[in-house]
Amino acid sequence: ELRGVVALDGPSGTGKSSAARRLASALGARYLDTGAMYRAVTLAVLRSGADLDDADRVAAVARDAGLAQGTDPADSTTTLRGEDVGVEIRGPEVTRAVSPVSANPAVRELLVAEQRRIVAHALSAVGGIVVEGRDIGTVVVPDAGLKVFLTADARARAHRRARQDGLESTVDAVLADVERRDAYDSSRAVSPLRPAPDAVELDTTDLDLAGVLAALLDLAAGRG
Ligand code: C5P
Repeated sequence: ELRGVVALDGPSGTGKSSAARRLASALGARYLDTGAMYRAVTLAVLRSGADLDDADRVAAVARDAGLAQGTDPADSTTTLRGEDVGVEIRGPEVTRAVSPVSANPAVRELLVAEQRRIVAHALSAVGGIVVEGRDIGTVVVPDAGLKVFLTADARARAHRRARQDGLESTVDAVLADVERRDAYDSSRAVSPLRPAPDAVELDTTDLDLAGVLAALLDLAAGRG
């Protein structure tokens, strides 16, 4: 049983989401996918027709999106005004637009506040939550009991993503997208992707999902 917060950060394709979900299940904890929240706001922005560079308009759409993010590790739904958008937010249009929307300071302020509310609620309800994203250990929950920063070399990450996305995407195309998003997420002014000073780094290049999960369970049990 997990007491407290496990913060899992790192770039895409490190196996973070699958491992975070399983870790939460194994520990009887809740699970928060913060990337899904940025993706859902991005979908709302795309549907609104707002210009991605119009910061005020993007922030207004985010505020009115009616976003709700579930925290059941077996079924963590993402909804906009009650509409389940879990499939649509994984599509290429959202993936292309999500980095600029997430770099909007007002969007981050809004979602970080909501994420903190969700974490506080989960802690009082079940005592533990695994939170996954880019800025969890640095910004959202800086006092998390365990912070892990997952890494993997870019080619390994592109292979994982290409497998997830299905046959249409070639590894090279995904590699270019992974590198573009890394560069954007790491260089933005607000909450850039970087490990917290007290995070444990876990390189998943040569690990499968079971290996990542085992390493995380060891860290959570204090054996890492
Ligand atoms: O984790 P996922 O790939 O779904 O995240 C999508 C995008 O959302 C990231 O590329 C990043 O731009 C943004 N994000 C963020 N902060 C978080 C989680 C995700 O900026 N905590």
